[in-house]
Amino acid sequence: MDIIKAPRGVRDILPDEAWKWAYVLETSRKVAGFFGYNEVHLPLFEHTELFSRGIGDSTDVVEKEMYTFLDRAGRSLTLRPELTASMVRCYLEHGMSKKVQPVKLWSAGPMFRYERPQKGRYRQFWQLDVEALGSEAPEVDLEIIAFAIYLFNALGLSNLEVVINSVGCPVCRPGYRDALKRYVGSNFDALCNTCQNRFERNPLRILDCKNERCREIMKDAPGIVDYLCVECSEHFKRVKEGMTILGINYKEDKNLVRGLDYYTKTAFEVLSGELGAQNAVCGGGRYDNLAETIGGPHVPGVGFAAGIERIVLTMEGQGCDFGQQPGIDVFIVTADDLAKNKALKLLYDLRREQISVDMDYTGKSIGSQLKTASNKEAKLACILGGVEIEKGVVTVKDLRKGSQSEVANDSFIDYVKANLAG
Ligand code: HAM
Repeated sequence: MDIIKAPRGVRDILPDEAWKWAYVLETSRKVAGFFGYNEVHLPLFEHTELFSRGIGDSTDVVEKEMYTFLDRAGRSLTLRPELTASMVRCYLEHGMSKKVQPVKLWSAGPMFRYERPQKGRYRQFWQLDVEALGSEAPEVDLEIIAFAIYLFNALGLSNLEVVINSVGCPVCRPGYRDALKRYVGSNFDALCNTCQNRFERNPLRILDCKNERCREIMKDAPGIVDYLCVECSEHFKRVKEGMTILGINYKEDKNLVRGLDYYTKTAFEVLSGELGAQNAVCGGGRYDNLAETIGGPHVPGVGFAAGIERIVLTMEGQGCDFGQQPGIDVFIVTADDLAKNKALKLLYDLRREQISVDMDYTGKSIGSQLKTASNKEAKLACILGGVEIEKGVVTVKDLRKGSQSEVANDSFIDYVKANLAG
């Protein structure tokens, strides 16, 4: 029988990589603290309707990418493909409109999308998701963009490009939609099949088609910024002013529309050259009507999500520092069973002192235990044999310097502590 392997598009994050993730997540947590965002944990699955209504029936995510199943009671549930709709549901369900607005939340965890796997694109991937709910103020859009930039700077990322656009609102978008359809209609036959299908259902999506010919056609398409109503236009202007005040470089991209239907006003992405085709490290924007789409009152909101795999890939590509890889400081080496009993006691005495320490339980030779100690990059090997037990000492070998000394039992812990600190 063949060994069962993990399904296509999902990855095991092994220890050699997991500590880098921990660094990214810890840094994110710190930045969230500086910006006043609180952590929430949300369910991995929700009612399918939350996503089909919230994200939009004609989006790729809802049409083709959701992991949807019936539970034992016949209810349709879906593994979350993103977090924004769940965040809004959580805000509504817990009456958060009574709190000081905006309510600022963040969360991190796995998302699920049935996509074609490639570098930086997986079927299970992690997002850091940051949302501010309950305010229309353009300064909140600015804060969300600044959060992303501040985080990427803190992680040491460079050469990132911030692209922004405004996708308007239900007041101004219909006018733009008509203008776009007029333009696209005269080039209809040259569009790819997918875009021909999008023409009636979701013409704005044609703007970010990856097909070369469609892109060529859309280069000269009318831009939504020329169709914005006064409110959207003023809002966009203020967000851009704020970016200038904060010294955030950005590029306006009139064709940036994002793949989810809930966006209104600000849309933005942060791109990295390190990632190839899947070049967005993060994406986000404003979604003032999402709460109503899922049955709630009007709750404006803005946020972003960043892919943890893509952050780590970009950091690796740019040789960024992930801090210190966790390892063992001390390895205890024993000669026989009598020594083993004494060693067990020392092992837990050291752990209680918050020193990272390990030993061998499998009866390896002293030589091979010492090899394990250096493979684990331990700083000290503490050797216990018959001689040491008799003399009431431990032989401490400093694996960094190659030096060795006998240390009396009662000063052992202090000696180890002083040595590791020095
Ligand atoms: P999104 O653009 O679909 O937006 O995803 C955000 C980020 O998640 C992407 O920029 C990318 O880094 C990562 N990502 C997406 N799909 C994959 C995948 N298959 N494999 C690996 N990484 C992926 C959203 O999800 C919105 N909810 C963002 C948002 C929050 N808008 C407002 N608030």
